[in-house]
Amino acid sequence: MIVAQISDTHIALDTPDADRRISDFALTVADINALDPAPDVIVHTGDIVHNGRQDEYAQAVAILAKARAPVYVLPGNKDNRAHLRAAFSACGYLAPNSDLIDYAIDDYPVRLIALDTLSSGSNKGDFCPEQVRHLIDLIDAETIKPIAVFTHHPPFEVRVGPDPLNFDTPEIMAELRRALQHSDRIVAIFSGHVHRAAAGHVGSIPATVMPCIATTLRKGEYPAHMKIHPIYHVHRYDPVWGFATETRIVGTGPRLARDAKSARASMIA
Ligand SMILES: [Fe+2]
Repeated sequence: MIVAQISDTHIALDTPDADRRISDFALTVADINALDPAPDVIVHTGDIVHNGRQDEYAQAVAILAKARAPVYVLPGNKDNRAHLRAAFSACGYLAPNSDLIDYAIDDYPVRLIALDTLSSGSNKGDFCPEQVRHLIDLIDAETIKPIAVFTHHPPFEVRVGPDPLNFDTPEIMAELRRALQHSDRIVAIFSGHVHRAAAGHVGSIPATVMPCIATTLRKGEYPAHMKIHPIYHVHRYDPVWGFATETRIVGTGPRLARDAKSARASMIA
């Protein structure tokens, strides 16, 4: 099973880099479409848009409509749950009567569990006791398949950048980490939010963070020629070896490099 993960596209329509965020997102989807073998799914781990606005979601939906693989989304701190739900309701996997956007996808050899870690009071993550119980229920709903969990906020300390803790309190993150270790069938945790690549653990479960797709918001040092290229992750699952993660740099192949150049040129014109 192959999962293409994208994150932190931060679509905005009224910032100076608005066109670039759109082209970063669109070029990434085009790169995913060109993968051979193709991914089974694409998961967007949040901060789809920057201001939670309906017109931003309309733009994001239009870009994702070009994806050949099924797309699943979850919210980041910049997202608006109601507008996200309305924009993606036609996809059919978001429960219509729930406030939170937590769900499981059972259609693949690896179950996918998406968690909603939005906090009402900060840009950091939250995960209340009710969500802990719901996560345990989601895990226990099936007892055979391995599980990959997707969150916006990473459930481990990312010790580079301004603040290693990405949840409102250490106790909230500890409760989430405890729940994630409820079953040894959870084989990987994939997150976003910090806009730079990182890796850690939840107990013995490997956990990774992918850089943000929006190149103008990406953290970390990159050589100048790399700065226009979005970066995303491809997670390939093997029953023996678990997930192996490839970092993909968009726009470095001959065709995509040409597309990227013409997209940039049309923005400048
Ligand atoms: Fe973000």
